[in-house]
Amino acid sequence: MNQDLFDDPAHWEIAPGVTLLRGFALAAEAALLDAVAAVTASAPLRHMFTPGGLKMAVALTNCGPLGWVSDAAGYRYQASDPVSGQPWPALPAAFAQLATQAAAAAGFGNFEPDACLVNRYQAGTRLSLHQDRNERDFSQPIVSVSLGLPAVFLLGGLQRSDKTARLPLSHGDVLVWGGPSRLRFHGVLPLSAGTHPLLGDQRINLTLRRAG
Ligand code: SIN
Ligand code: FE2
Repeated sequence: MNQDLFDDPAHWEIAPGVTLLRGFALAAEAALLDAVAAVTASAPLRHMFTPGGLKMAVALTNCGPLGWVSDAAGYRYQASDPVSGQPWPALPAAFAQLATQAAAAAGFGNFEPDACLVNRYQAGTRLSLHQDRNERDFSQPIVSVSLGLPAVFLLGGLQRSDKTARLPLSHGDVLVWGGPSRLRFHGVLPLSAGTHPLLGDQRINLTLRRAG
């Protein structure tokens, strides 16, 4: 683990292709929170079911041309919200700009997301180890923005059985993974209860991808 790549404690290359940008989203905080409120008002957070029929603990919604969905038919991206039948809300400019800037800061130029998954965690919500592999082009990174309550992110390896590192993520942190780390397993430990001054009892994670 290499803490001094750019001699900047806020810019930490944890492993090849994995960069933690601490506080990177704070400058855009107000615009991001306004946009989260607008997106969730038009496409409400909901619990989806895994292909195996289990209700997911994380509540989610999407914005952008493509949205990630899960149901009995499998995991996939689609252009419409299965609840409303309408297109997902547009990708807010604040999300797209932050994602492009964070990707560039992590060494991935010209990242133009076409999908943003919005995940909501409440006390006890966890996300089990998985790979992000429903996207078409694995040369494009994943940009993950943490808002609200802190969480512990699990960063695994390319095999499910590889050991995981625990990475505390706080409000405003942005984690980027791509290149040789694009298919690393990852997850989130059960959220600890708390109250965030801006978001209350929840953690919101934005995951920006180039899906199509
Ligand atoms: C995800 O893997 O989709 C979300 C990760 C996170 O909530 O930090
Ligand atoms: Fe993921």
